[in-house]
Amino acid sequence: MDGVRIAAPGDFGRTCLDALLAAVEGIARPVVGLPTGNTPVALYEALDAAVRNGRADVSSWRPFAIDEYGGPRSHPCSNRAFFARYWDAIPGAQPVEQFDPEASDTTADCRRMDESVVRAGGLEVALLGIGMNGHLAFNEPGSAPTSQTRRVDLHQSSIVSGAHCWGEASPHWGVTLGLDRLLAARTVIVMANGEAKAAIVAAALRGPLTPDCPASFARDAARPVWVLDEAAASLLGG
Ligand code: GLP
Repeated sequence: MDGVRIAAPGDFGRTCLDALLAAVEGIARPVVGLPTGNTPVALYEALDAAVRNGRADVSSWRPFAIDEYGGPRSHPCSNRAFFARYWDAIPGAQPVEQFDPEASDTTADCRRMDESVVRAGGLEVALLGIGMNGHLAFNEPGSAPTSQTRRVDLHQSSIVSGAHCWGEASPHWGVTLGLDRLLAARTVIVMANGEAKAAIVAAALRGPLTPDCPASFARDAARPVWVLDEAAASLLGG
């Protein structure tokens, strides 16, 4: 299957890492859009190990957050806290450029992030997880491929997912790079693991291209790469 890589058991993080390093190979100062969530943890750990053993060097990478929760910046479940834990720990990693959910003017803050990505030359790589409802970053169902960087109301399933960490304080809104910026990346890497993601992965890869499943639009990116474990790929068929 073109563009789909199935990780061997226990090898999800390394397979994601191989896809990422291949995508930035030969690029002097790659601009990378970084995800949070459970899915990319194994990737960040593999990247950290690769930097420490000299296989990778992220010191020239320019990292951007792809989204953020509409909650306090200092909350331990914010994406900011996630990056502090998993990205900033990598030797040589540059600070992640991030949304400010406490900005007095959220629209202006989204414009700042969007313009910064454009000024950097656009994303070389959009690294993405996939939500249970097919969202990419916080581009929830209903998002067109032309949707822009903006504040969004989160769908119930995203609020419920967020509650696993945030509890009752799970934010009802978020900010996200638009699908227009994410899908324009030279390489779009969508990662998914676990049986719970099998149905939405099958919808994204086998179903219609539709705003009902924003991840389906990743198929139309210039160079889409899907990294799946066997459980997430289990409903794809042959
Ligand atoms: C979150 C984020 C997405 C992430 C997705 C999947 O809410 N906004 O960027 O990719 O949901 O999360 P997880 O990897 O924990 O399943």
